[in-house]
Amino acid sequence: MSDNKKETKNWEPTIVAFFCNWCTYTAADLAGVSRLRHAANVRIIRVMCSGRVDPQFILNAYAKGADGVLIGGCHFGDCHYMEGNYKTARRFHLLKRMLQDMGIEEERCRLEWISASEGERVRTVINDMVEKVKALGPLRLPERFNEWDKEMEFIGEHNIGEEVHIHA
Ligand code: FES
Repeated sequence: MSDNKKETKNWEPTIVAFFCNWCTYTAADLAGVSRLRHAANVRIIRVMCSGRVDPQFILNAYAKGADGVLIGGCHFGDCHYMEGNYKTARRFHLLKRMLQDMGIEEERCRLEWISASEGERVRTVINDMVEKVKALGPLRLPERFNEWDKEMEFIGEHNIGEEVHIHA
């Protein structure tokens, strides 16, 4: 067994969830009251609308050590702020492309529309995401940032790239 496998054998992923107050957050509450147990790896952050979730919040979560980010919002037509969730959907597509460029696997970022009455669905989505991220292993973005910083320092110290000349 490789060192990495040994190290991650008992590892549990950390998932940060941004849930809309009016739907998914209430559904998570309902799941708790109904004793529908979901994996304990999720840190839930309540927002007033999924449209309030700035892509920067998601990048910050990864930068601070999250292995996955889950966003939960109202179904189309149910957003309390009319078009907040449409904005979320548009941003999410752009964000996914950016995460792909950064080498962050698709399964680590998920958007779901879950209404207040869908407690069972919150549980299913959380458990499914935890399983998928667990299979991928730790993201370790803070460590990766350090490695990238070192590479940049090395490039700077060795003047790599200064030989490029542009001929008009
Ligand atoms: S109020 Fe729930 S997504 Fe906008």
